[in-house]
Amino acid sequence: MSPQSSYMLGIETSCDETACALVDRDGRVIANVVASQADLHAKFGGVVPEVASRKHIETLLPLIDSMMQRAGGVDWDRIEGVAVTQGPGLIGCLMIGVETAKALAWRYGKPLHAINHLEAHLHAPYLLPERADQAHLLIEVGESKAAIPFAREDSAAPHEADSPQAEAAVIKTPEFPHVGLIVSGGHTTLVVVEAPGQCRPLAATRDDAVGEAYDKVARVMGLGYPGGPIVDRLAAEGDPAAFKFTAPLKRRDVLDFSFSGLKSAVARRVEALRGADGSNGGSGSSGGNASGVLPEKIVRDLCAGFQATAIDVLLSKSMRAVGASGARDLVVVGGVASNRGLRRTASGLRAAGVRIWFPHFSLCTDNAAMIAGLAWHLKPLEAEAMLRLDPDASLKFTPLKGTVAG
Ligand code: KG4
Ligand code: ZN
Repeated sequence: MSPQSSYMLGIETSCDETACALVDRDGRVIANVVASQADLHAKFGGVVPEVASRKHIETLLPLIDSMMQRAGGVDWDRIEGVAVTQGPGLIGCLMIGVETAKALAWRYGKPLHAINHLEAHLHAPYLLPERADQAHLLIEVGESKAAIPFAREDSAAPHEADSPQAEAAVIKTPEFPHVGLIVSGGHTTLVVVEAPGQCRPLAATRDDAVGEAYDKVARVMGLGYPGGPIVDRLAAEGDPAAFKFTAPLKRRDVLDFSFSGLKSAVARRVEALRGADGSNGGSGSSGGNASGVLPEKIVRDLCAGFQATAIDVLLSKSMRAVGASGARDLVVVGGVASNRGLRRTASGLRAAGVRIWFPHFSLCTDNAAMIAGLAWHLKPLEAEAMLRLDPDASLKFTPLKGTVAG
């Protein structure tokens, strides 16, 4: 790394993760620090906005300081600009990041970038993770399956053969335009990504986000928070056929998602299984008991049934969107993109010519590397707009260049 290289400082505080990162202009993640508040919110079974914003105030500045120290004593001369999540997210949480970023940019005379959190998630597959052993993406090329080294233009081997594997070896990043599926705690959205930070929405959830459904399913079974990783782990040990759930809005003519009915169906089944009569609602083994504690096998099977239904609907709609768009790349991002069942099922799809990309695990859940990485592709705010920047809890996608806003 040349001593002259400069870094974008990213700041992310939209929900319950306080995060900062340094990313260079080639998308290399130099440092990526996330202080999760999950333990703080676990006892409430979900994020408490007031508690989260207070924790961001305490954590953010010391976290930036210690990251710059740990990254080898990076000083402000090396910082090209400051990038911060403007929205969407929890307003009190966003405010801490935005006001801190404004103050730092003003104090050190740096340009300020206001970044859309969802557009940043979509940029995650273009980043090179910090450590070489993290540097891979799961990728599908036609019928081949390969976890390949993440090769960028500057480091790629020359294209030598025509086999799918060789094709995989020279694919650097997803092509534009491509279809993006954002799956997180707050969003389940399909978009066409025309360029970095340039998206056209195609469909979204009509009620709960898929991550929210994971969290609620975990909560009704008393499994802990955040529920996604726990349900994912238990589902891997369960039988997805033991409990059948109806895939919501699976009709071919609807691209929108819905997860609240699925979540409620799981909750109703849990309630029935907990009934003192011991009826088991269809798994074939003994169900609930008077104490309301479900047997482990039942919990694993319920997780597997819920997860299989959610994955089925996510992937079938995404593949339909890819087909309709004429694109050949599908990018899956957001916290739920770290789901191993989703990755495994995606890697088993047999859709000729479609390539499915997932960011490295460290870049799926909320982080500031994606904020800093996207900022390199976008214009900073004008000097006067900088100090007037406000967070926006329901920030919309940036209108496409060349189209009328609104
Ligand atoms: O993107 P993210 O970190 O924050 C938001 O912007 O919402 O996503 C958090 C969500 C939570 O709902 C969490 O339960 C879910 O992502 N999640 C998972 C997994 N890891 C995190 N859901 C399913 N499987 C996982 N392995
Ligand atoms: Zn997120």
